[in-house]
Amino acid sequence: MADLTTKLAGVTSPNPFWLASAPPTNTGGQVMRAFEAGWGGAVWKTLGQPVENVTSRFGALDYAGRKIMGFNNIELITDRPLETNLKEMYEVKKRFPKHALIASLMVETREEWREIIKKVEDAGSDAIELNFGCPHGMCERGMGSAVGQEPKVLEVITGWTKEFAKIPVIVKLTPNISDITVPAAAARRAGADAVSLINTIKSIIGVDLDQFVPYPTVDGKSTNGGYCGPAVKPIAMHMVGAIARKNGNALPVSGIGGISDWKDAVEFMMLGAGTVQVCTAVMHYGYRIVEDMIQGMSDYMDAKGFRSTSELVGRAIPNYTDWGSLNRRHTLLAKIHQEHCIGCNLCVVACDDGGHQCIDLNPEFRADTNPTNINLHRTTRKAPIVREEECVGCNLCSLVCPAPGAITMETVPYRPAYGSVTDIKLNGPRAGH
Ligand SMILES: Cc1cc2nc3c(=O)[nH]c(=O)nc-3n(C[C@H](O)[C@H](O)[C@H](O)COP(=O)(O)O)c2cc1C
Ligand code: SF4
Ligand code: SF4
Repeated sequence: MADLTTKLAGVTSPNPFWLASAPPTNTGGQVMRAFEAGWGGAVWKTLGQPVENVTSRFGALDYAGRKIMGFNNIELITDRPLETNLKEMYEVKKRFPKHALIASLMVETREEWREIIKKVEDAGSDAIELNFGCPHGMCERGMGSAVGQEPKVLEVITGWTKEFAKIPVIVKLTPNISDITVPAAAARRAGADAVSLINTIKSIIGVDLDQFVPYPTVDGKSTNGGYCGPAVKPIAMHMVGAIARKNGNALPVSGIGGISDWKDAVEFMMLGAGTVQVCTAVMHYGYRIVEDMIQGMSDYMDAKGFRSTSELVGRAIPNYTDWGSLNRRHTLLAKIHQEHCIGCNLCVVACDDGGHQCIDLNPEFRADTNPTNINLHRTTRKAPIVREEECVGCNLCSLVCPAPGAITMETVPYRPAYGSVTDIKLNGPRAGH
């Protein structure tokens, strides 16, 4: 079994799977259960001046029968007394000395940073994470994303923490900014040992159409929240990759955003993340998901011959380039394999209205009439055919096709020009219609 031991900015953990600062890391009892379940590290629910939270505070976006594709919250930082949190952190570290325990912090003044850093160091934290990302509530008070959106302020505060801290400083970035590499550069200039991202994306999850109030509703009113969960993964991966492209190994990254399984984790790592952090998936399915994450990652590493997780980190970065550097002579065509087609016609409609109008129903085709073939129902259907000379290889048909293996994209020799779309449209109804 591959060795999953991971080191990020001087912090070692038995594996790269950390819990993100959020409800699953609210108490010592929870973090201990998480470590027992297999999590390699935990970033404690952000500490600062304890707050009062509202109810309700969560909302979710379900999609096509799946629960919680996106998750929205208006929760603030910890509402528990600092001393209670510190005592529990001390207990956790005593019991799990080899696991990574990171204190997430959010305070205002230089003096408050000095005091709280000393306290979490005394409690046994391996590192601190500066919460410059919370996009609701705390930013109205000049903290959270209000700092993450102002690179100069971020640089000054990170500089303070580097002055005070004996342990590594990780700066958690907000995605609510146009170019993520700018605050990352500010963190690096200030001497940050690593950055983590993303925190949540400013969002409104929905509106109650009877009460005329956005969700989540708090006594007839609402406010924007922070969006996370599977839906944000592509945005987070782009941001992690953008930082890795600019900084290489010089600025370690802990990747966060929509990670739910080992594949998500490996993807983030290939784009430059040294560790990954998870919140929504654990809130949805519990700490136990880490078992599959550990098994899946080790199996993958064994199969590919990776000996340590560091070999995964940034592996895809050399192949992540600018659009202008892509090979415009590379040519793909869609090929439909009739033996796998279930005759749903989704590809025909998609290519007609969103592609290049080059899939025809084939009136000649009749499916296999062998009585042992379970696809007998297809005998009355027509399977589509791609008019290859018009196909631009956009991939849309294969993305909408619900039948595995029915459409593949095949590499063909370069063709200087595709057919004229205007001509096709003017030609009227196509064959098979
Ligand atoms: C309910 C809730 C509370 C959160 N609280 C914090 C927090 O206190 N500090 C922090 O840095 N991030 C907080 N986050 C953000 C998460 O740590 C994480 O960055 C974000 O949820 C993206 O990861 P995910 O897609 O795995 O959920 C919170 C997220 C949620 C859903
Ligand atoms: S790849 Fe695009 S253009 Fe070609 S058949 Fe499919 S949808 Fe049409
Ligand atoms: S979308 Fe796939 S299954 Fe449906 S008609 Fe096209 S090739 Fe067949």
